[in-house]
Amino acid sequence: MKILMYSTFDFEKPFIEKAKHGKLELVYTSKNLNHDTVDLAKGFEGISLFTSDIANSTMLEKLYHLGIKYIALRTVGHDHIDLKKARSLGIKVANVPEYSPFSIAEHAVALLMALNRKIVLGQKLMEMGDYRLDNLVGFDLHGKTVGIIGTGKIGSAFAKIMHGFGCTLLAYDPFINEELIQQTKIRYCNLEELCQSADVISIHCPLNVDSKYMFNKSIFSQMKKGVVFINTARGMIVNTEDLIEAINKGIISAVGLDVYDKERPIFFKNHISEKFTDHVYTILRSLPNVLITGHQGFLSNEALQGIANTTMANLNAWAYNSICENELEK
Ligand code: NAI
Repeated sequence: MKILMYSTFDFEKPFIEKAKHGKLELVYTSKNLNHDTVDLAKGFEGISLFTSDIANSTMLEKLYHLGIKYIALRTVGHDHIDLKKARSLGIKVANVPEYSPFSIAEHAVALLMALNRKIVLGQKLMEMGDYRLDNLVGFDLHGKTVGIIGTGKIGSAFAKIMHGFGCTLLAYDPFINEELIQQTKIRYCNLEELCQSADVISIHCPLNVDSKYMFNKSIFSQMKKGVVFINTARGMIVNTEDLIEAINKGIISAVGLDVYDKERPIFFKNHISEKFTDHVYTILRSLPNVLITGHQGFLSNEALQGIANTTMANLNAWAYNSICENELEK
């Protein structure tokens, strides 16, 4: 089965090549799926997409007319594809429902620790020859309250790490994870209570109708003064302009982001010779207590191999006409 792999990066190719087996003939392109590149899919039975590829209704129509029958997402999230439309066209879609949750959970911890212990600021001062400590005071996480939004695979991994640090844990999730309660003594509560009590808030839920812009002016105003806010889930869960206002008001003392609501034109690309036109992003980047990474939570050897293995398994299931366990909207 011939598959066009959109948006492939050099860093993932060795993992895909290692995982490749069965009836697959893969062609790689570094290009995103968009109106200019959709015709590249002609002559292929399937395509594979990354988070930066938007498969909306119009795009799916075009893919269908080009003969595409299968779409293998190399992501957990599937908010970038119109599943109902795919289903109506008979295009099968599968995702990678899990791969090392530790990769993203540990990245959230890295952001939190770097912010709390002022690692980036300390390095910048040192580079200038300033070894004074006056601006580098952090706090012990031990004994602090950490609020976790979404206690699925990644949120649970994050909770266990924070439990190990000696934190008190609060959770907001419509699904109560009893095993996690046993393991970490995490307490489930409503979003308002979590925001009023937490010294650190970390988001680990998917983007859906309930979570879209869940963090806005109203909820920021209820947060404990000085809270550290981490988002490694999806950018659109947070209203960025309201976030900047909450930072400027001193409600939020530090922010660690691996995602941004308008990240698609920015992340995963080289912008060395151009200026950003996104004014809000430029303001966010300029704030000294904001640390941004470019959607790299999944970037560990273990996670990349997991993504590649499951993507190849999904494609082979279709190639051999067997059941694809990870098919969405079956
Ligand atoms: P999961 O499905 O195991 O867990 C998600 C949890 O969130 C579930 O317990 C669910 O009940 C809960 N949830 C759903 N809607 C909610 C809401 N409105 N409010 C609070 N909780 C809600 O998913 P997993 O694997 O833990 O991934 C979580 C998210 O992390 C993904 O959806 C994705 O957006 C993000 N992610 C980010 C990556 C990165 O590189 N930065 C990589 C992989 C995932």
